[in-house]
Amino acid sequence: MNAAIRAVVRTAINSGITPYGIYRGYRGMIEDEIEEMDGHSVSNILQLGGTILRSARSNRFRTPEGRQIAYDNLKKHGIEGVVGIGGDGTLTGARIFMKEHPDIRFVGLPGTIDNDLVGTDYTIGYDTAINTAMRAIDKIKDTANSFDRLFFVEVMGRDAGFIALRVGIATGAEAVLIPESKTDIDELVHRLRKNSLKRKNSALVIVAEGDDAGGAFAIADQVKAKGFEQYEMRVSILGHIQRGGSPTCMDRMLASRLGMEAVKALVDGVSGVLVGKKCKDIVYTPFEKAIKDKQKLNPLLLDIVDLLS
Ligand code: F6P
Repeated sequence: MNAAIRAVVRTAINSGITPYGIYRGYRGMIEDEIEEMDGHSVSNILQLGGTILRSARSNRFRTPEGRQIAYDNLKKHGIEGVVGIGGDGTLTGARIFMKEHPDIRFVGLPGTIDNDLVGTDYTIGYDTAINTAMRAIDKIKDTANSFDRLFFVEVMGRDAGFIALRVGIATGAEAVLIPESKTDIDELVHRLRKNSLKRKNSALVIVAEGDDAGGAFAIADQVKAKGFEQYEMRVSILGHIQRGGSPTCMDRMLASRLGMEAVKALVDGVSGVLVGKKCKDIVYTPFEKAIKDKQKLNPLLLDIVDLLS
């Protein structure tokens, strides 16, 4: 997100526009945590995880009164356009706000590790998260291999399986359990038994946190309850390490490009869209569609897990 903030600020300055930073998202809009920024205020942040503008959830922004205060604050600072960086919640807030206050332009940038937004191939943060998860699992595999163990590793993604699927392929998992496909514990046990017959001394199952069969601990218990004893089992929940750390080159590139394009869109009078990138093209997706539709998972990737494990 910092790379996106930097790109927005510097593109604005280079276009003769005064940029302001709104701290803590919609909460900061209401509490007037709004500060003018200059080129220097975004120096040396490209390599930092998190966001220098901080982030927060805001219940007050869910009310018309809260949004009115936010609007008054934006007006007070002479703000004419907003770039909101985030996922579903950010876009939903932006859409409602825009309907009530259409004189302020609003564009969104896809910022979530979950990669579940339509209108962009990748969201800002996803590449960093999958690389972090992959490296962590590589390390876990050292223990799995040395001690002949079966590991259930739970990754984030809310109700989407994009992180799990990519990471599963990249780490050579025996199975990947995701919310987009129904989990069958008998089938999983069968697959793990087959795996042990292939003379594999360890196994890895990647579990998306939103999987229908429960989290990694619950699934491990269900497998144990089926009398599966080929390997000693362990569970590891990767958690918030996936949301932090220095961004990958791919993420910095994507965020820089999209930050620049977001300002260009506002200058061109565009409003009410998510600015994304598909293949090499910059794509505008109306907020309504970006909120309603869900990015579809490529089923071929599940086949890859099956074929290659
Ligand atoms: O939506 C991004 C995400 O990282 C999800 O993958 C995860 O479920 C959630 O946010 C974690 O949110 P919190 O930090 O509020 O627990």
